[in-house]
Amino acid sequence: MAIGVQSNEIHDHFNKLFSAILIEQQKYDHIKAADQEKREILTQKLKEFEQLKGRGFFYPFMASGRGHGPFVELIDGSIKYDLINAIGVNLLGHSHPIYIKANLEAATSDTMMAGNLLSYQEPYELSQTLLNAVKKSKLKHFWFSCSGSFAGDTALKILWQKKAPNYRLIAFQKSFAGRSIAMQDVTYNPAYREGMPQTISVDHVPHFDYKNPEKSLEMTLDALDDLIKKNGNTYCAITIELIQGEAGFIYGTKEYYEGIFKWAKSHGIYVWVDEVQSFARTHELFAFQMFGLDEYVDVVTVGKVLQACGTFYTEELNPKPGLIAGTFNGSIASMNAGKAIVRYLTEGNFYGENGRIKEIEELFKSQFKRLSEGSCKGKIPYYGGVGTMLSFEVGDATTETTNKFMKTLFENGIISFSAGKEPTRVRFLLPLSLLEEHIQEIFSILERTILEVI
Ligand SMILES: Cc1ncc(COP(=O)(O)O)c(C=O)c1O
Repeated sequence: MAIGVQSNEIHDHFNKLFSAILIEQQKYDHIKAADQEKREILTQKLKEFEQLKGRGFFYPFMASGRGHGPFVELIDGSIKYDLINAIGVNLLGHSHPIYIKANLEAATSDTMMAGNLLSYQEPYELSQTLLNAVKKSKLKHFWFSCSGSFAGDTALKILWQKKAPNYRLIAFQKSFAGRSIAMQDVTYNPAYREGMPQTISVDHVPHFDYKNPEKSLEMTLDALDDLIKKNGNTYCAITIELIQGEAGFIYGTKEYYEGIFKWAKSHGIYVWVDEVQSFARTHELFAFQMFGLDEYVDVVTVGKVLQACGTFYTEELNPKPGLIAGTFNGSIASMNAGKAIVRYLTEGNFYGENGRIKEIEELFKSQFKRLSEGSCKGKIPYYGGVGTMLSFEVGDATTETTNKFMKTLFENGIISFSAGKEPTRVRFLLPLSLLEEHIQEIFSILERTILEVI
């Protein structure tokens, strides 16, 4: 606690408050059905919120602000396993001591948000921590944004400035890059930009085909060569999610990525890796580190787990003054949390072949194997993924069946979300706070729900 006001009294209160909050939050440590008398409150508040937003919610969910580890409480008093955690944000789990501490520390500061003009120690320390973690690469700078989409916009602007007038961008089929005016064109699904004018020129090539792994690189390289034949070398960069999140966790091999990146380098096309969803969730802090691709990356975007968002880039890509700025870096609490999260993850035993993330992945995969070969034979046509990014298909894997399954699973006490389309997958973005006993219970709920719905 070195930032903000300090005194023995504050220190004392801080420690007492920290313990008192943690003790209270730790009570939310098991699943529980809704309280009969609170059901109406949830229905009413959601109905009102839906009116305000002008649109319905997928799940009848409103958090109470209470929860611990993998558990989250709703305002109807029900407690569920949260296996999607705000689409990948709460990797450490609910009310993790790091989150509580980051918020309390921020309260000793004189402001809420850190900005670009008059700097604070928090964004300085977080930048230092992040750049320290990518020392093996050529990434030398980090610029904060307030969303993953805006980190993507920053990436694109610095690439455009460097490569002007080569403004075309290569992206991948099924990719998701966000919903800003630029990123909606990078995102593959045209339904997400209905009625929008096209603002940037993006060409999408096929990603790794897990059903045809040997031919995948050749197919992608052929598509890349065709682009150059068609448009000339008018490209600034190639952007890729190494683990495609919204597609349902499609990913290739080191050889596949190296083949693509060598092709890009030989054409003077920069490599931009989008790690907004994969950051911190695979077998290394960055997915590009897990695949050993440090030497190739020129730009990397991050968000979600970091509790802040931003863009890494090389010395060579440092833009001219005036191109990128903005009022906010992010909140003081999120900067505090981001720094502590990176330190906790990299100093603890989470990464590598013997790290906890790999262990959780294997525990889940062996349970999926048991169900798909046993009581749920023929009902789980696919399961897979990497690290804490796991997905599976149920029944005919249509959106209709998958949505019905997820809603029943929610009622039975587990929150998941979908990814991909026909086949539509059930997606888990797992928290690290899962214990073996939780995993046993999760799979007995999954088994029951599969047998109920499929
Ligand atoms: C890979 C990827 N890139 C970019 C984004 C956009 O991030 P945000 O929703 O914070 O704008 C997302 C969000 O899901 C994502 O998964």
